Amino acid sequence: MDEAESDLEIRPIDELDLDGIIALDEKIGGQYRPDYWEGRIAYFLRRDPEASVLAEFNGEVVGFMLGEVRAGEFGLDEATGWIEVLGVDPDHRGKAIGRRLAERMLLHFSRREAKNVRTLVHQEREDLFSFFAALGFESDPLRPLIKGL
Ligand SMILES: CC(C)(COP(=O)(O)OP(=O)(O)OC[C@H]1O[C@@H](n2cnc3c(N)ncnc32)[C@H](O)[C@@H]1OP(=O)(O)O)[C@@H](O)C(=O)NCCC(=O)NCCS
Repeated sequence: MDEAESDLEIRPIDELDLDGIIALDEKIGGQYRPDYWEGRIAYFLRRDPEASVLAEFNGEVVGFMLGEVRAGEFGLDEATGWIEVLGVDPDHRGKAIGRRLAERMLLHFSRREAKNVRTLVHQEREDLFSFFAALGFESDPLRPLIKGL
């Protein structure tokens, strides 16, 4: 185990992590969105408290992944794990933090007897496609459709 790995903790998210996640999102996307994250974190903690995970390096939030297990949606009988949103600190990328967050979340999904894990990625996000491909994700026969209103 190298030094970075030994100082890195991957653990379930709790409400006290809100400020760290807001700050990391702002660092990644340039927008300060406290209300958005308060709502999202509350939602995921209520729905599936053990699923969403955080990476901490020397006490600082350097990554997070929110998701949950859902069943019965879109005519899918079986339980499916959904990865909803993720972010790794740009100063800490390429150190397998994203991979370790996903491994922890997928372990939880398996324990909850999900048969698959799904996510949605914008077609222009080559970085996210490459990340998920490296983790073994493939194209899904279930395809999203949209119509403007
Ligand atoms: C995608 C992201 C999560 C990757 O995090 P990371 O910790 O750097 O990824 P890892 O080091 O765990 O990489 C895992 C695998 O994915 C691949 N990968 C990761 N980022 C990649 C990229 N940008 N391009 C190509 N491959 C990539 C790695 O090569 C690695 O493959 P390997 O294990 O076969 O060597 C991170 O870049 C990120 O947070 N991007 C922004 C996400 C975002 O916009 N979120 C919305 C707002 S919060």
